[in-house]
Amino acid sequence: MARRSRPSRSRGQDALWREYRRLFPRYFWGEETRLASVVLEGAEGARLTDTDGKEYLDLTSQWGTNNVGNVHPEVLRATTDALAQYGFLIYFMNPHRPMIELARKLLATRPSPNLTRVFLELSGTGAAEGAVKYAVETTGRPVMLSFMGQYHGLSIATGMIGALSSHERRHWEPYGGGAIHAPYPSISPRPSGMSADEYGGFVLDFIRDRLLKHVVAPDRIAGAIFEPVALEAGLWIPPKRFVVGLRRLCDEHGWVYIDDEVEAGVGRCGRMWAIEHYGVAPDLVAIGKGLSGGLMPVSAVLGTEAIMAEHDVAVGTTFGGHPAACVAASTTLDVLRRDRIVERSAALGRRALKRISEWERFDGISDTRGLGLCLAVELSKHGRPGAPDPETARSVFFDCVRHGVIPLYNYGDHVLRIQPPLTITAAELDRALDTLEAALHRRAN
Ligand SMILES: Cc1ncc(COP(=O)(O)O)c(C=O)c1O
Repeated sequence: MARRSRPSRSRGQDALWREYRRLFPRYFWGEETRLASVVLEGAEGARLTDTDGKEYLDLTSQWGTNNVGNVHPEVLRATTDALAQYGFLIYFMNPHRPMIELARKLLATRPSPNLTRVFLELSGTGAAEGAVKYAVETTGRPVMLSFMGQYHGLSIATGMIGALSSHERRHWEPYGGGAIHAPYPSISPRPSGMSADEYGGFVLDFIRDRLLKHVVAPDRIAGAIFEPVALEAGLWIPPKRFVVGLRRLCDEHGWVYIDDEVEAGVGRCGRMWAIEHYGVAPDLVAIGKGLSGGLMPVSAVLGTEAIMAEHDVAVGTTFGGHPAACVAASTTLDVLRRDRIVERSAALGRRALKRISEWERFDGISDTRGLGLCLAVELSKHGRPGAPDPETARSVFFDCVRHGVIPLYNYGDHVLRIQPPLTITAAELDRALDTLEAALHRRAN
């Protein structure tokens, strides 16, 4: 890493960073992360402040959790009031008004009318895993169909059902017998010489003619878990033909269709739920991250009558449905609707996509893509798809951080993502894109 790209910061912040690194070895991703791990002291809207008082624009929404902006004042007030009023109540002994209100409000936004029931959890992992338990227990079948590149969490079950990378699956590969994986049919990247629709059709044929014939019989499969947009994979967007075809396969074979909206949902992709882009009705929807404005951990699964009301499935966790978390989520949903945030962010996203697509003319950029306020810039050697360039992506990322903008970046990846709070102002987004463009220009030309 070139010396000039180091973010300058005080010794105080460096000392805090070193202590963090010693105390939390799991979160330490390598010495080079020191250059971009900013120790933060404050957050408001799309702006973050470090311990030296330096400001940053947040293009991560803290990994997709603060869709209404960091520390939204109304969500904060409602949440602290609820904490003062209820403390914690155990939902299955003492159901409370906030959880009922949240369920009502979530169902009012449901992507399809077949979804009538709700289950609350703490994390996206808990929601995805709960949805899988519903699928397995209600069908009595042991295997899940998943897709390469998907991420559902790092618990043993979600770790083996997802397939973001062999790194996350290491040591747990032998536990993966309960999941089979098909390629994720993204519009981009996709095999050269194939249209997006052809690739979608190819993967459907692969499932039918290969997986179901040679690997697992269809009546041993409980369901398919599918991300309507695979964000962690590097923002992979599937063609509609595939999503519709997957629903059809589920109907043919009695599989439960699980829509994992943990990161794609709550307005991130330009609709309240990303599945709305495809006109498909899922059987279960896993929701998390941005649901509670980033203030309290809560996640949810929406499900059909047939799955949730007619089966006794062992799911749940002590703090799932915490009253203050339910209030945070209800207030977040109110704010999103009242301020028309999803519509506004979709328009902002379209404008940003138009701008970043012009960057494809820079040497080293193989693709730009986006859906809603969720955009990606892919860096490859000499702009050739198939020749990923994570080194340049990383140096562009460091350069941005040094200049006060934090894009969303998975270490080792060649994709930089732009996932700001949906409430970011047009001026803030323009400023952040100016910084990213300048950094790309410096590195890619
Ligand atoms: C699609 C998807 N599902 C599940 C999860 C797990 O959520 P959490 O980290 O809140 O447990 C994630 C997290 O990034 C995700 O992107």
